[in-house]
Amino acid sequence: MDSIIEPDDIIKSIVSISKKKNTTGRLNMKYLVIYAHPNPESFNSAILKTVTEELIKGNCDFELRDLYASSFDPVLNLEDLKDLGRGTAAKDIKEEQKLVLSTDYFIVIHPVWWFSMPSILKGYLDRIFSAGFAFQPSEEGVKGLLEGKRIISFNTTGASKKAYEEYGYRDCFRKNICEGIYRFCGLEVTGQHFLYSVAQVSDGERKEMLEGVKNIMKSEVMGN
Ligand SMILES: Cc1cc2nc3c(=O)[nH]c(=O)nc-3n(C[C@H](O)[C@H](O)[C@H](O)COP(=O)(O)O)c2cc1C
Repeated sequence: MDSIIEPDDIIKSIVSISKKKNTTGRLNMKYLVIYAHPNPESFNSAILKTVTEELIKGNCDFELRDLYASSFDPVLNLEDLKDLGRGTAAKDIKEEQKLVLSTDYFIVIHPVWWFSMPSILKGYLDRIFSAGFAFQPSEEGVKGLLEGKRIISFNTTGASKKAYEEYGYRDCFRKNICEGIYRFCGLEVTGQHFLYSVAQVSDGERKEMLEGVKNIMKSEVMGN
C-alpha cells in the first residue's frame, strides 16, 4: 500500500451506525465515512467493513454515507446553480451540509475509476462542497471554509504501483483530488492510501492490505 502522510498539510440509506461518545478514539471527534462502491462483495466493501469495525471498537462517534445505497441525487442541476447565485440551496443539500459542518474527520473509501473518483461521489461533492459553503473566492484568493477538519482516503486501483509511479497517475490523482478538491476547501489531508492491483494480488496480499488499513485507522485516524 502506498501512502502520503503530511501532518503539516496535510444519504436515505444514510446509515447512522453509531452515535456514541468517543472513549478510546480522539476525544469528541465526529467521523463521517463516505463510501462509493455499488458492490457489497467488492474489496472496497471489505475496506469499509475494516474501517467501521475499528471505529466501533474505538467507541467512536461516526456516521456512514453509502452513496449507492442512498437516495441522494448526485447530479448538480440548473436550480442548484441558480441557488448558488441566490445564496441558498436545496433542502437535501442543506441537510447534508449540516452533517459536513458537524464532522471533524472524513474517511473516504472508493475505487479509482478513470484515474479519479466514481461519478456518484464527484456529483455528491459537486452539490455539497459548494461555493460559499466549502470555499469562498475573494480578492485575496480562495479561502477554504472547511478549515480545521481532516480527511483521509482509501482508494483501490486496477493498475499496478509501478504504472502509477512511472506514468504519473499517482501524482495526478493527488493533485486533482487531494489538492484540487480537499485542500482547496481547507481540509487537512492526513493521508491518501492507494491499494494497488487489488484484483490481481493474492488473498494473502489482500489480507495484508486490510491489516494496513486497520493499522492506519488506529495510528493516523483514531490515535492521539
Ligand atoms: C469504470 C471503471 C474505470 C476504471 N478506471 C481505472 C483507472 O483509471 N485506473 C485504475 O487503476 N483502475 C481503474 N479501474 C479498475 C478499478 O480501480 C478496480 O477494478 C477496483 O479498484 C477494484 O476494487 P473492487 O474490487 O473493490 O471494485 C476502473 C474500473 C471501472 C469499473
